[in-house]
Amino acid sequence: MAKFFINGKNRLCGEVEMDTAKNALLPILAGCIMVEGKVTLEKATAYTDVEAMCDILRALGGVAQRKGDDLEIDCSSLDKCELSHELASPVRSSIFTLGPLLARLGKAKVAYPGGCDIGLRPIDIHLSSLRQLGCKIVEKNGYIYAEKGKPLTREVFLSFQSVGATENIMMFCALLPGESKIYNSAKEPEIVDLARFLSCCGAKIEGAGTDVITITGVERLEGCKYRAISDRIECGTFLIAAAMTGGEVKLENAVSKHNSALIEKLKTCGCFIKEGDNEIFLSAPKRLESFVDVETAVYPGFPTDLQPQIVALASIAKGCSLVFENVFENRFNYVGELLKMGCDIRFKSSICIIRGKDKIFGADVVSTDLRGGAALVLAGLACEGYTTISRVEFIDRGYFHLEDKLAQLGADIKRI
Ligand code: EPZ
Repeated sequence: MAKFFINGKNRLCGEVEMDTAKNALLPILAGCIMVEGKVTLEKATAYTDVEAMCDILRALGGVAQRKGDDLEIDCSSLDKCELSHELASPVRSSIFTLGPLLARLGKAKVAYPGGCDIGLRPIDIHLSSLRQLGCKIVEKNGYIYAEKGKPLTREVFLSFQSVGATENIMMFCALLPGESKIYNSAKEPEIVDLARFLSCCGAKIEGAGTDVITITGVERLEGCKYRAISDRIECGTFLIAAAMTGGEVKLENAVSKHNSALIEKLKTCGCFIKEGDNEIFLSAPKRLESFVDVETAVYPGFPTDLQPQIVALASIAKGCSLVFENVFENRFNYVGELLKMGCDIRFKSSICIIRGKDKIFGADVVSTDLRGGAALVLAGLACEGYTTISRVEFIDRGYFHLEDKLAQLGADIKRI
């Protein structure tokens, strides 16, 4: 099992380009199930979760092959509707295949999804919405058995602005004759990107990015060439890394309006930030002020996927900071590893209290999940001395060659 080995305290300086968004590529790959033709996803970053979704498409009878930086997908001959536990359980995004399989083939047998251990991660909103849209769904022996039926309604209201449920339902309705509406839909940029991709293939979708999405079903979807948006969580992670090391960086292929909530907090901490068209410049002070408090929320609120990283930042900022995790019920597992580095953090249910230290120290730590692992990397960059981080396979799920990009900015980090 690979590890990261970090010698801390180097300032991050220079330029680096952000990759395409993991959480846009994953639902788009699921959407390819509905497309009868070739789809070229340009510069589709080879995150391990993206590769897992390609394996899922192949198991269903689709073709997925890498052509340099691009992914060529062709699900014209896709004819299987069963997804095994082995293929579904490693990733959360396997559940995104349910809506597309029902739309394309009228039935599906999909094992429960997996994903980072940050809470129960139920799929009740996905299933209740599909049932309202006429699907017959039975959950048995760890599988979801589903069949398309006569819709009871064409309007569904999501009890929570679930990203995945919005994506699943939007895809299912894309081939459902007539007009459907999703109320209280999630508004993340990745939802807008998925809608844009589906529209590129011929779908008729209005309102993505707002809390009411209207979909008018079409007969079939055709292939296209598409490039997904850049990864706002990678971008936020690099902004925080530069801030924590007193650095000065320019991030290219970075959309500042997708990170407004974080940028506002980093300015409070004393960072100078210049937002360009498709780039962000950050220059950090030697020691950060406290951002006082952060509450994670659905977009455009502060993203839960940057919560571990901002806790790491607070660990070395001045004063005391509060972080409220309002989206997932168990997203502080990584804190125990930060304590090994001398951080002063305590949490109770969804509230985390961090007292900033002027020094933290390298240690041997273990990644608990994707973004928790990223937080350990950021802390290691700010530590005195050496840090080893094991279970980096969690980090590889959502960062591509993270160590090379950080080294490009001057970090002393290598994969061993
Ligand atoms: C997506 O997960 C992302 N994953 C997550 O990113 C991200 O943290 C999350 O959205 C929130 O932004 C992908 O896109 C692959 P949700 P998803 O449905 O769709 C509850 C990362 O690090 N809920 O919006 O699973 C759920 O338990 C990952 O890149 C239900 O109760 O998130 C959670 O508390 C981690 N019932 C809340 O809603 C449901 O049916 C948000 O979940 C669905 C969700």
